[in-house]
Amino acid sequence: MIESILIKAIDIVFEDAVKNGDIYIENGKIIDIGPSLNYSAEKEINGKGLTALPGVIDPHVHFREPGAEWKETIYSGSKAAVSGGVTSFFDMPNTKPSCITEKTIQQKKEIASASSLINYNFFIGATHTNLEELNKTENIPGIKIFMGSSTGNLLVDDMESLTSIFSTGSRLIAIHSEDEPTIKKNEERTDLPDNVFAHNMIRTPEAAVKCTNKATQLALKHNRRLHICHVTTKDEVDILRNLRTGLPDEKKYLITGEVSPQHIFLHLPDIYDNLGTFGQINPPLRHVDHCLGLWEGLKDSTLSFIGTDHAPHTVDEKRKPYGEAPSGMPGVETSLPLLLNQVAKGNCSLHDISNWMSGNQARLYNIQSKGFLKVGYDADIVLVDTKTKKIISNEKVISKCGWTAFDGTECTGWPVATLVNGQVVFREGDFFEDIKGKEIQILDF
Ligand code: DOR
Ligand code: ZN
Ligand code: ZN
Repeated sequence: MIESILIKAIDIVFEDAVKNGDIYIENGKIIDIGPSLNYSAEKEINGKGLTALPGVIDPHVHFREPGAEWKETIYSGSKAAVSGGVTSFFDMPNTKPSCITEKTIQQKKEIASASSLINYNFFIGATHTNLEELNKTENIPGIKIFMGSSTGNLLVDDMESLTSIFSTGSRLIAIHSEDEPTIKKNEERTDLPDNVFAHNMIRTPEAAVKCTNKATQLALKHNRRLHICHVTTKDEVDILRNLRTGLPDEKKYLITGEVSPQHIFLHLPDIYDNLGTFGQINPPLRHVDHCLGLWEGLKDSTLSFIGTDHAPHTVDEKRKPYGEAPSGMPGVETSLPLLLNQVAKGNCSLHDISNWMSGNQARLYNIQSKGFLKVGYDADIVLVDTKTKKIISNEKVISKCGWTAFDGTECTGWPVATLVNGQVVFREGDFFEDIKGKEIQILDF
């Protein structure tokens, strides 16, 4: 274990600017940032030509442990994550058994403390009967409600249960937003083709919009902190934008939205023509006008941050025909290169990336001491080379699932090294696995 590191002459990305300087780290914390620092450190890193960003916080992954370890484990998922500059994750509750009690949260935290290479925490899943567990479990990012069914059997879609969850307690509620009755009705359509294009006729934009409207009304009525996961339609962006501009200051961030890289960068019909059921996810990828609306929403801060919805399934599982193939695709190791590539193209700035991938997660989930390169904060840092060009490929995937929907995409801008709590865990293709991540500390609302 290394106690002190001095990173020299690196471009440092702050919330609103990029400045060259040094970063001094001791016992896992950033102790000093500035030009020409003078500390004698155990290890020195020459940062010339590199850029330091806050370690990515991925607030939405499905690491599959316990219950589906052949797809991913907390260890394999965290290894994939750290190679992509991710230093913290929140994992979703649709594991087996479902993570719906204080005890199952505790079990996951124990697995993570023994095996996760990065920092971790876990959502608790809502059911019709676990209200007490939802509110008594300590130090979790929030309650996850599947308001529409997806992978696993978690679903709460009746008004009575939803009202009792929204009206009891105060912690953040994150939702999978698709209206279940609309999905069920569309499944009965007689004009559905016998291929993956049926997916979008069942899980329509209307299903997503209807559910987001319903959840928004509940949050406003009960004054409850609501987060919409993986927003997929420009119409939902409009709903969130109207709320942001229409609500008084103290309520502006009562309701927030997240977006995944795949929903911004992949679209129909190409994705199904090229990848078939490998492109099948919930809510679905959509047509390009929605992609543009999502990007616009991110750029004007209507959508607050990126979450990958890393949902690994094996190649054999995804190869099955529509109706048998599970929904979901991986993403935890490709989100930062995909976003840095947008910086290289001049579509956004490095400080946008810092806010979308770390800072806003920390702010809006009340995460302590993370998300920014600031004195006193945890030394979760990713060093990137903004000029390196590499092609994302199935062969290089670290996740156990062994494939990516971005196979063949060239990105300019890649992580070179990732520090977690002041320790180098990933550097130029090598992993240093003896030190484990820590439980992320979260303040309640
Ligand atoms: O496509 C999806 N896959 N959407 C979800 O909501 C769940 C996820 C999974 O766990 O596979
Ligand atoms: Zn979801
Ligand atoms: Zn998800």
